[in-house]
Amino acid sequence: MPIPHLAARLDTGPTVPSRQGAPAAVRVRPAVPADAAWLAEVSRASFAPRLRDYLTSAQPGIDRFWQVVITHPASFPGRCFLVAEAADGDRLGFAELTLTERDRAHLSYVCVVEAARGRGVARHLLRAYLDRSPDVRTVQLDVFADNAPARALYDRLGFAVEATSTWWVADLALDGIAPGDDVRLDGLHAARAWLDTYGFAEFTVAADAGRVRLGRPSARVLRCFDPATLRQPALLAAVRQEFPEVDRVLVMTPGDDAPPSAVGELRAVNRSLRMSTAEIRTRLEHA
Ligand SMILES: CC(C)(COP(=O)(O)OP(=O)(O)OC[C@H]1O[C@@H](n2cnc3c(N)ncnc32)[C@H](O)[C@@H]1OP(=O)(O)O)[C@@H](O)C(=O)NCCC(=O)NCCS
Repeated sequence: MPIPHLAARLDTGPTVPSRQGAPAAVRVRPAVPADAAWLAEVSRASFAPRLRDYLTSAQPGIDRFWQVVITHPASFPGRCFLVAEAADGDRLGFAELTLTERDRAHLSYVCVVEAARGRGVARHLLRAYLDRSPDVRTVQLDVFADNAPARALYDRLGFAVEATSTWWVADLALDGIAPGDDVRLDGLHAARAWLDTYGFAEFTVAADAGRVRLGRPSARVLRCFDPATLRQPALLAAVRQEFPEVDRVLVMTPGDDAPPSAVGELRAVNRSLRMSTAEIRTRLEHA
């Protein structure tokens, strides 16, 4: 099923407010554990409230998670948080990137506090990362299609769209469905502990039909990594028996077409673009 309102937004490209402001005097440094609460606060504030239930990085425990990552870099090889600050030490923004191959990095997030936007802080962060990572030639990322400022930044840096995906959500409609008696949740203790500590979790479910990977990006949402899981109501009823607070499923699929669902009517809540560029160094040099 096509989603015309989202397609229309994509076709017209980003519209962005006018920008003012002088270039900022910015210093970029690696994040320290004491930054974790601030990182969580500014990143959560930057997400549209309607999407927060679907994003692990908008959950209340994400500061604890990031604190572990920042405190133990050897346990998270290639993962890098950088913080930009003004001359007086005020934090202006941050970027999180992960080295995925010798010459390739994934930009998970770049975020600038509202008052400091339009002064080159995002560019400073990305330049600082590349200065520290001389082998990186290509950068990849995912961006929400309707995030006009971010798309303007990425266009400027030479990013091009490689693929699109749609986020589908259904209110779980499982009345009268008996939980499958062949269903076993693996890692149940760990999933509960992750949820309590960080606010999100992943686990696998084993059933006669095979193994299924599931996630909890927040307390109320169950993410099905494989869209075929939406055709297994007895399996999902068994999962819901363990986690009665779950009321919605989320699935992300390539393109615009909704996958078949036997557990509730799907609605599109978001469209995401996978982008990459091998031009970022040159573009930043000339910016
Ligand atoms: C997107 C974001 C990180 C940009 O940060 P920023 O520090 O304001 O960006 P910069 O000042 O470094 O801008 C660099 C270039 O990006 C483009 N750009 C960025 N924001 C823009 C805007 N609002 N309007 C038009 N162009 C914009 C411009 O081409 C700009 O270069 P120019 O000033 O020479 O024209 C910031 O708006 C933000 O934090 N948004 C919320 C979090 C978010 O959505 N992050 C992206 C997630 S994928």
